[in-house]
Amino acid sequence: MPRIPHLIAEGGPPSYTQRVLNRELETPLASATAPGKAILLGEHAVVYGYPAIAVPVVAVEARATVWPAAGPFEIRSRLPAGDETTDVVVTVGVSPDEDPLLTAARAAAERAGLNPDRLPEWLVELASTVPMGAGLGSSAAVAVAIVRAVSAAAGAELDDYEVAELAFLAEQRTHGTPSGIDNTVVAYQRPVRFSAGVAEPLAVAQPFTLLVADSGEQGPTAEMVAAVRSRRQQRPQTYRVWFEQVAGLVEKASTAMARGELAPLGWAMNTNHLILQALRVSTPRLDALVAAARVAGALGAKLSGAGGGGIVVALVDQDSVDAVAEAMLASGATRVIRTLVEAAE
Ligand code: PMV
Repeated sequence: MPRIPHLIAEGGPPSYTQRVLNRELETPLASATAPGKAILLGEHAVVYGYPAIAVPVVAVEARATVWPAAGPFEIRSRLPAGDETTDVVVTVGVSPDEDPLLTAARAAAERAGLNPDRLPEWLVELASTVPMGAGLGSSAAVAVAIVRAVSAAAGAELDDYEVAELAFLAEQRTHGTPSGIDNTVVAYQRPVRFSAGVAEPLAVAQPFTLLVADSGEQGPTAEMVAAVRSRRQQRPQTYRVWFEQVAGLVEKASTAMARGELAPLGWAMNTNHLILQALRVSTPRLDALVAAARVAGALGAKLSGAGGGGIVVALVDQDSVDAVAEAMLASGATRVIRTLVEAAE
């Protein structure tokens, strides 16, 4: 279906025709959102079956809306990349079958009882505020939003586990051999402990605030994971010790979150960053952001995600939040997102 330019009425309310052209009077078949995510502890180790903790970043989200259309199934996406936005159109029969967005749509349609090779005449509009390639789980967020919206449009109600499972198929197309932590935390929309493919919801006694600083450098996930894998093959004993230490930090952090104790959680994050430096996935810019956050009063700070760029997460309290945000901006962060991790049972 050709895209109809969005018409803005000049002076006065829009006419009926304008409202039709703006599609205001059409009802979408379904709409769904999914948050971003940050790994709080345990990235890289999680690839080898060790535990990790991830939290949703609700300050950013992807939204998928399914509209009836007169033409082949199509996904029109508008996704942020650095300072720009990228518009991509994925059309059944034109775009490659292995496109991750199509994979997500097909998997959801099939689970809902439709023929995945004959997707209905629907237009899926995809918009996102989750920056791509920043370690905030943008690919998982769009996959989860598509799975939820397409399955709902087809009349199916999927539980979080099923949504995570189907979004994982898209993640495999995007990343090769992902651990599954991103699609899981994004689908569950709550803190999770993830280990050897199994997710467990985590209790959070007290809500806490994280600042997520974008380093402005792209974090090449597949490359970083491959580099760690090859170094681990050369020094298996050393890597086993480091990953076991990370597992210990994950346990301490889980207990701290369940008790509402921020200081030990911050300590675990700081210690995890040291191990990530040893894994050689940090960069001078990430280290500078971590140092700036700590000097300004963060309870803990570390790189988050694959490293080589991407984001730093800092744990802050009410007294330090503004100073830490300013310090990270002054230290080169391209932006700082403030997000609350809510209490959960
Ligand atoms: O860079 P991100 O946010 O996609 O996180 C990657 C996390 C790793 O543990 C390095 C890889 C994975 O699949 O878990």
